[in-house]
Amino acid sequence: MELIWNHVLDWLSLLLRWGHFIVGVAWIGASFYFNWLENRLERITTEDSDVAGNLWAIHGGGFYHLKKYKLAPEQLPKHLHWFKWEAYMTWVTGFCLLCVVYYLNAEAYLIEGGEQSINPNLGILIGLSALVVSWAVYDLLCKSALINRPLVLAVLLFLYFSLLTYILDHFLSGRATFIHVGAAIGTIMVANVFFVIIPSQKELVSAVTQGRELQAKMAKNALLRSRHNNYLTLPVLFIMISSHYPFTYGHSLPWLVLATLSLAGVFVRHYFNIRHLPGAKNLYLLAGLAFLLVSILLTAPLSFRSEQQQAVVTAQIFPIISQRCSSCHAEQPTQPGFTAAPAGMVLQNLDQIERNMMQIHQASVLTKTMPLANLTGMTEEERDLIDQWYKHSVTGLNE
Ligand code: HEC
Repeated sequence: MELIWNHVLDWLSLLLRWGHFIVGVAWIGASFYFNWLENRLERITTEDSDVAGNLWAIHGGGFYHLKKYKLAPEQLPKHLHWFKWEAYMTWVTGFCLLCVVYYLNAEAYLIEGGEQSINPNLGILIGLSALVVSWAVYDLLCKSALINRPLVLAVLLFLYFSLLTYILDHFLSGRATFIHVGAAIGTIMVANVFFVIIPSQKELVSAVTQGRELQAKMAKNALLRSRHNNYLTLPVLFIMISSHYPFTYGHSLPWLVLATLSLAGVFVRHYFNIRHLPGAKNLYLLAGLAFLLVSILLTAPLSFRSEQQQAVVTAQIFPIISQRCSSCHAEQPTQPGFTAAPAGMVLQNLDQIERNMMQIHQASVLTKTMPLANLTGMTEEERDLIDQWYKHSVTGLNE
């Protein structure tokens, strides 16, 4: 029964992840496209035209001619296309994935194992609160006078998210911390669509149908929130793939790594947003690359700098790996609930252990995410020995 249940969960996770990815691409793709359109529009400056600008494009073997109205056409067209389901479905699939991966198995993935570990249900509560509180904080800031001071608003939001990462890291595992910050930002983006952008567009449409005066302020607000979403995109996309990179979330200062990587994303995004304008835009690209460089340096392995290592050979590590890891990481795992080697990593002989040296070191020494929830009871001494084994081999390779 348990085998079937695990198979169902695996498939649920696969389908949700795949679906999340597909609708996410559709949403972000459309959002990037319209942002690009807005930036590249050939503006019409004559006063009497009700058209703001137009644009020619060629794609998929055909010419396209688009135009944007200053406010609205006199009459609504028969077919008006909206873009909202992509955004909503990205949130729905993402939230379900969060539940399947992190909440159904909170003990193993959501919370940090060990003595100071919190109750898994408390972990879930903290995770969910992060989503709700983040939207409330952001929305309040946007409704305050700060909306007219974008730079101050950006700095405050940046500080808020760094603080959130710092706090979550005290309760949740590194992976779960990053994913929850990403989910919080994603929730803000979708809530912007749901609570601000779509209602303002509905108002625009009903004003045109009823021949009422258009509320320019509402449209401006929607455009602003959509711009915010644009700047949040690159940091969120990094976070969504971060679970593949334990050296980011497993760093001793994870909030700092996330902060520098996010700044890199925001500056690069800004560069692409203003690339078509005259002026000193390359500075923004350089700033983005500088933050990227800082992130790379921050996460550099300390072991490269340490000297004097005691020689520990793989044969000394073998019994530890066999005892602590191979019940799961085997061709045929003996750990209940496992039908194949997790992450495709088989650790049953010296050769396999040496080939995966870096990952073994990362998972069992740097991030301590392995053994999973320390189910096999690995000791600190054993972790130290793996550390020495790795460092000795690394310095050996450098000679
Ligand atoms: C109880 C089962 C279990 C044990 C014991 C276990 N692992 Fe894992 N391991 C997993 C699972 C499940 C994954 C996949 C996690 C994921 O998808 O993020 C994994 C993934 C990994 C990865 C890939 C990590 C990544 O994020 O790419 C490494 C490396 C790893 N384990 C090393 C080890 C080492 C070294 C040990 C022993 C010290 C160990 N594991 C013990 C279950 C286990």
